[in-house]
Amino acid sequence: MKSLIKHSPSESKRGKEAAMPPLKPQTLAGLRRAARDCKACDLWKNATQTVFGEGSLEAKIMFVGEQPGDQEDMAGRPFVGPAGKILDEALREAGIDRSDVYVTNVVKHFKWAPAQRGKRRIHKKPRYSEINACRPWLDAELESVKPEVLVCLGATAAQAILGKDFSVTRQRGQLVDSSLALKVFATVHPSSILRAPDATARREQMQEFVRDLARIASVMKAGTSPSTRSPKSVKGSRNPGEAA
Ligand code: URA
Repeated sequence: MKSLIKHSPSESKRGKEAAMPPLKPQTLAGLRRAARDCKACDLWKNATQTVFGEGSLEAKIMFVGEQPGDQEDMAGRPFVGPAGKILDEALREAGIDRSDVYVTNVVKHFKWAPAQRGKRRIHKKPRYSEINACRPWLDAELESVKPEVLVCLGATAAQAILGKDFSVTRQRGQLVDSSLALKVFATVHPSSILRAPDATARREQMQEFVRDLARIASVMKAGTSPSTRSPKSVKGSRNPGEAA
């Protein structure tokens, strides 16, 4: 354990959900165990299990997505489904070693609704209050792992972490001014690549995603800001109360 977790009760009172009591200082494994019983919002009721973050305590990069999907919910592990495969492929192509990476989500339970026909579980975007209820876990993961680089994947994670005005479309790949890590970035969510309308668009979107990750990796290695996108820092926020 690298450091203790401090979480003030007032920070938990961010939505309609019951405030989670302050988390006790504990190891990442302890946090994962404690998160299994989390009932800070109602999402646990329809989910199979809590899907806590995964990766080395020594990871230099933390990727934060939205919430576990159908496969993650069943496996109990983040980014193991189709979006995770895209992420893995992009990391490989960008030359980022999985052992340097910790992956997690802003929400740790799968939110879904039954498909109108058939048995499929359809992903539903988490509400602001659900994201806020889950926030102490993400803060505790950040405190434990202390990543050098934090990467928000997609608008939900980016706005939860960097403020509701953050635009992934406009600001992807740019260094963000935030106290959460030495270097903070946002890029698209890998599932957006799966939704590309055709193979050409998909290939182009994948190339752009890999470019973002490669740039982030080079910034991490060189300790400099990315050169090919705007070097202008943009304001990030520690206050998820600003999230959409
Ligand atoms: N999408 C996410 O945001 N996270 C996962 O773990 C899987 C899919």
